[in-house]
Amino acid sequence: MTGTTRAPWSWDGGLAETFDDHVRASIPLYEQAQWLTLELSDEFAVPGSMIYDLGSSTGGLSADLATRHPRCEVVGVDSEPQMTAAATAAHVRANLRFETADVAATHLTDAGFVVAHHLLPFLTRVERAVALTAVAGGLVDGGALLIAEKTLPDTAAAQARAATVLTGYKLARGLSAAQIVAKERALRGVMLPRTIAHLEGELQAAGFTETTTVMTWMNWTMILAVKGTR
Ligand SMILES: C[S@@+](CC[C@H](N)C(=O)[O-])C[C@H]1O[C@@H](n2cnc3c(N)ncnc32)[C@H](O)[C@@H]1O
Repeated sequence: MTGTTRAPWSWDGGLAETFDDHVRASIPLYEQAQWLTLELSDEFAVPGSMIYDLGSSTGGLSADLATRHPRCEVVGVDSEPQMTAAATAAHVRANLRFETADVAATHLTDAGFVVAHHLLPFLTRVERAVALTAVAGGLVDGGALLIAEKTLPDTAAAQARAATVLTGYKLARGLSAAQIVAKERALRGVMLPRTIAHLEGELQAAGFTETTTVMTWMNWTMILAVKGTR
């Protein structure tokens, strides 16, 4: 038997050009999650506060947040220069900027609302802790972090079920079996999903006082984490 090779996952190499179609075909309820993010932002994006979109990629959600909250400054942060270049070219708003930076090294200030969708699974346990602690430290009292991510189901049966259903979801949206397998292999060891219990523990350890699950599709979860009260 011969060994097979694989191309490990990376965010460069022109991914920014196809990213928007790619995430819609790969992530269940992607558009509904963006809509819900904007709705939830109204409670926390008080005028004069900062909004951060961590792992902002091509910047569509950052731009929508800037349009919705003209009296807030919005910063999209992404470690991949091709992503921030694409976002900067595509979205121009007076209250919006994109920065190329690692989330674990990002200093947040006066934040009312922070989004981190489909970012944390790409960080190690230590990087997640550093990033979540920095977010909690940068939020004003009563501010909130909204995260969306693929989580790790609690049992082997649930993991198998989630994997099978997700494959069906992607096939139904036009991805080929070869594309699906290649991505799964590329993400091995790069994307590290955690259980919901682990995630809630991390959020509490970072200083968030209230966590609420606001959307779920199989093992895809969106959690709102609030820091204290206003
Ligand atoms: C799956 S995409 C999610 C993008 C977007 N939040 C969304 O929901 O469509 C993850 C993004 O996070 C960026 N990223 C990965 N690791 C990062 C890090 N350590 N710091 C900042 N951005 C990072 C990648 O370049 C990529 O654009």
